[in-house]
Amino acid sequence: MAATQKEPVTGAGPLNGILTWVDERFPLIENWRAHLSRYYAPKNFNFWYFMGGLAMLVLALQIVTGIFLTMNYKPDANLAFASVEYIMREVSFGWLVRYMHSTGASAFFVVVYLHMFRALLYGSHRKPRELLWVIGVVIYLTLMAEAFFGYLLPWGQMSFWGAQVIVNLFSTIPFIGPDLSEWIRGDYVVSDATLNRFFAFHVIAIPLVLLGLVAAHILALHEVGSNNPDGIEIKNNKDPKTGIPLDGIPFHPYYTVKDAFGATVFLFIFAIVVFFAPEVGGYFLEYNNFIPADPLKTPLHIAPVWYFTPFYSVLRAVPPMFDSQFPGVALFGAATMILFLLPWLDRSPVKSIRYRGPIYKRWLAAFVVVFLLLGYLGTEPTNVWGQFGPWLGEVERATVVARICTVIYFSFFILMPWYSRMDKVLAEPERVTS
Ligand code: HEM
Repeated sequence: MAATQKEPVTGAGPLNGILTWVDERFPLIENWRAHLSRYYAPKNFNFWYFMGGLAMLVLALQIVTGIFLTMNYKPDANLAFASVEYIMREVSFGWLVRYMHSTGASAFFVVVYLHMFRALLYGSHRKPRELLWVIGVVIYLTLMAEAFFGYLLPWGQMSFWGAQVIVNLFSTIPFIGPDLSEWIRGDYVVSDATLNRFFAFHVIAIPLVLLGLVAAHILALHEVGSNNPDGIEIKNNKDPKTGIPLDGIPFHPYYTVKDAFGATVFLFIFAIVVFFAPEVGGYFLEYNNFIPADPLKTPLHIAPVWYFTPFYSVLRAVPPMFDSQFPGVALFGAATMILFLLPWLDRSPVKSIRYRGPIYKRWLAAFVVVFLLLGYLGTEPTNVWGQFGPWLGEVERATVVARICTVIYFSFFILMPWYSRMDKVLAEPERVTS
């Protein structure tokens, strides 16, 4: 019944018959049109709008390379490290698959951080895209979990001690903490039981959740339509006859072709890293992780991978209270959770940075600087810049800087309802500008 009411498949050729047959039994053409050939995207997308598509590309790369790694990896504390070495040395192109996967993990975060920053530039988190943003933040947290679980698998020194430190953070939670961290590990220390469960989460549970979340993210985006660098709604200016936004162009073929170009440039840079510098100076693959895990030998300096370090810095910046690290852990959590509130903290009458006033621009610049600085400090030991003299209580310089950065990081969000409203804004244009 429903099939007869459908708009017919257009065009001719041998494929047409097959398409019509499938379309009568499955909403193929309807979805192709809704999400591609008749999804009208603003015509003024710029560099920042490549990132969502690139994130999808990296997700696919991670899943495919992950499947091939799983064919030779052994989730067993006695075999894991050697199985990764086996992949690197013996398996045909195993080194390539492994380097693609390890580079892909960092590339994922590079792309996602740029993708999130775009929202801060153009107000993409604002009404009507609040839910789209919230789903995005859930994706980001899930991605962090995925990276954390995956990092234990090579069973190197950093895998082991990094997991030990992070899981121990949970034990600082009052009352339930010690039991909770034991429950997460499945043992009193990080062990074979921990490796097995982290493997299960990394290869199947979390990827499934991620795929579902990304589908929800795209559905939410297509429900409200894309924002753009001018931060105005193209749906407010439609052709009265066709109902198509005057500033919209069909996603396919215009943006499929443009995104294919972006993907080519991205893969070129990705290949340079994979082939010439897969460790990226110890930032993408930490040197300590080329040493097998040794529960009896704590490395001198334990640092998480770069994409976690801004939050790790926040954690270290907070001094213990009543002998407990919990305040630092709580702030560490708050630094990520506060992202959920962003759509409601921003009260500016305009969305895009193009029409915002100087106050928001300065706060955003300060936010970027402190985020990068916190990220850098998190990769280094706290005494990297030495200490202030005895007259300042011999406190480490880097810790003081991290504390100031932490205050600015949180102020960016907490003060936003005031400074975003009091800023002098420019009038938004009626139609998008090129
Ligand atoms: C696996 C990770 C992700 C994938 C595959 C993904 C995919 C996409 C795609 C394909 C788009 C449309 C193209 C574009 O605007 O770039 C998009 C838009 C968007 N995404 Fe994501 N995304 C991911 C993570 C995130 C995260 C972590 C956030 C925020 C916390 C986020 C927030 C948004 C917002 C607000 C938009 C609308 C942008 C606009 O229209 O201006 N996304 N996403």
